[in-house]
Amino acid sequence: YVIGVDLGTSAVKLLLVNKTGEVVREVTKEYPLIQERTGYSEQNPEDWVKQTIAGLKQLVDEFNGKADEIVGLSFSGQMHGLVLLDEDNQILRNAILWNDTRTTEQCQEIYEKVGKERFINITKNLALEGFTLPKILWVKENEPEIFEKARTFVLPKDYVRYRLTETLHMDYSDAAGTSLLDVANKEWSKEICELLGLNISICPQLVDSHENVGKITQNVADQTGLSADTDVFAGGADNACGAIGSGILSEGKTFASIGTSGVVLSYELTGDKDYGGKVHYFNHGEKDTYYAMGVTLAAGHSLNWFKKTFANELTFDELLKGIGEVPVGSNGLLFTPYIAGERTPHADSKVRGSFIGMDSSHTIKDFARAVLEGITFSLNESITIFRENGKEIDTIYSIGGGAKNKDWLQMQADIFNAKIVRLKSEQGPGMGAAMLAAFGSGWFPSLKDCADTFLEDAETYTPIKENASKYEELFTLYRQVYTQTKQLND
Ligand code: XUL
Repeated sequence: YVIGVDLGTSAVKLLLVNKTGEVVREVTKEYPLIQERTGYSEQNPEDWVKQTIAGLKQLVDEFNGKADEIVGLSFSGQMHGLVLLDEDNQILRNAILWNDTRTTEQCQEIYEKVGKERFINITKNLALEGFTLPKILWVKENEPEIFEKARTFVLPKDYVRYRLTETLHMDYSDAAGTSLLDVANKEWSKEICELLGLNISICPQLVDSHENVGKITQNVADQTGLSADTDVFAGGADNACGAIGSGILSEGKTFASIGTSGVVLSYELTGDKDYGGKVHYFNHGEKDTYYAMGVTLAAGHSLNWFKKTFANELTFDELLKGIGEVPVGSNGLLFTPYIAGERTPHADSKVRGSFIGMDSSHTIKDFARAVLEGITFSLNESITIFRENGKEIDTIYSIGGGAKNKDWLQMQADIFNAKIVRLKSEQGPGMGAAMLAAFGSGWFPSLKDCADTFLEDAETYTPIKENASKYEELFTLYRQVYTQTKQLND
């Protein structure tokens, strides 16, 4: 058996997985978000450690003491969060998370000092508020007495791994989201560090995601009931692990994930593709490969907001029942899901959403369908960027909440104009982490072989020609909404 530890933003989810990829036990432990001011989002790393250890203990207890059969564990982690450590690897302040937006000025500063084009050239990504480097600069400028003591920084799951093993590392897939990694060359960027006055020694040692970084300590073995012989493998960023866990392991494979936010992610064999920062470009959890990724900030979040505001008395099933009978285009109603700003393609935190084309005959069903269409159009912006850059996108794995509704799955096929596949049992990033441990433990010759054993397709949706061409026209209108109404929020 192996364990996949998925260190998320609201909870840590642990999966105990057997040699055929079956999840035999699952435990979730929550922890709080600390939001002292608008735009601030922090967590106490001690909470992650405490809940991960509690989760491991529960998993072992529920497994009736068969701990010796658990050979290894690995991680998936929320990306970008800054954990600053002193010379004794003690935590210097709360972690500043990926969804904290206090660093707009620092992003500007990065472009001024490094040059925007050069920066994108090295890191393959824009400088975004959520990424780690602007957070490091924020602490340097606003809390100099803390920064002075900082000797190294890591990302959330790296810190938890450190506490389990007492070895400190960062894997390439997570390092790619720091804005300090030369992504194509897989090394820390001396140039960026120098231009921003950072000592490169604050950057931790880099490893591949499947690498064995040591065994758990005796102390952790005592606390959890795991064997002290349990191997720990580095693990990866949640999106990289989500890709592994849904089999995105060869060119052309793509997933569309609809959770609170939405992600479209596509495999890339090499590090030299140039999207000019229009989509994220990160190192994969599979050695020496990459992925491109676009993000819709308010995907499921838009649907939650809509239900809470206009139809709180209904369950989601009730709200979405019958939307399959509403015609394509929601009887002339169009929604843009920018209720919390947008990442891809606009990287605009100020833009806001809209309903356009309201008619007094519209019902809640028209609105509900329009919300789903708007979210899916937003994801289609990312797919369009991939295609414009020569990527063939003909099959897309749908994962997350968006894969739970048949009408939405058909809508994705029609809007993306691609075959949509749903997995039989979908466990997301936690499964990717378990697969890294399985591959790292030598169960399979490659991650692809592991995916062949662990993952199975359940059903496929193919585009309906007539719907796809209607959506193509509507997508043109959808795209104009941003350009035509952007000034409203400037
Ligand atoms: C990716 C991103 C989020 C976090 C969530 O760039 O910010 O997907 O990884 O955990």
